Amino acid sequence: MGFHHLGVATEDLEATAALYREAFGLEQVHAETLEAVRVAFLDLGDGYVELLEPVEPDGPVATFLREQGAGIHHVALETTDVRAAIDRARAAGVTPIDEEPRDGAWGHQVAFVHPSDTGGVLLEFVQH
Ligand code: CO
Repeated sequence: MGFHHLGVATEDLEATAALYREAFGLEQVHAETLEAVRVAFLDLGDGYVELLEPVEPDGPVATFLREQGAGIHHVALETTDVRAAIDRARAAGVTPIDEEPRDGAWGHQVAFVHPSDTGGVLLEFVQH
C-alpha cells in the first residue's frame, strides 16, 4: 500500500487546475467526466492531485462543498488488489462503503472507506 492521490473538492476545476499549474508547476495528465463529478489528475511525480468538481447538485462532492467548502476530500492509497484491501479492512472490523471494487476514473478499480471508520479520513483504495 502506498500513496496514490489526494482528492481535492473544488467549485471550479479549470481555475484550480490553472492555479496548481502556474503556482506549483503541476501538469494535468488526465481529465474525465463521471456520473456526478468532473475530475482532473495533476502529476506530483510520485502521486497525483485529483481535482473534483460536482456536476450533480445532490452528489457527494456537491454535498461536501456545501457543508465543508473547498479542500481535501479524500486520500487514495494504491494497492495491487482492491478486493484484498476491502477484505483486510473488513476483517479488522471496518465496513467499507463499497463492498466490491468498482470502476473509478482513469480506468481505476476503487473502493471507499468511510471517515467514521478511519479516524476521520475518507479513504480510497485504488488499483491504477
Ligand atoms: Co480519488
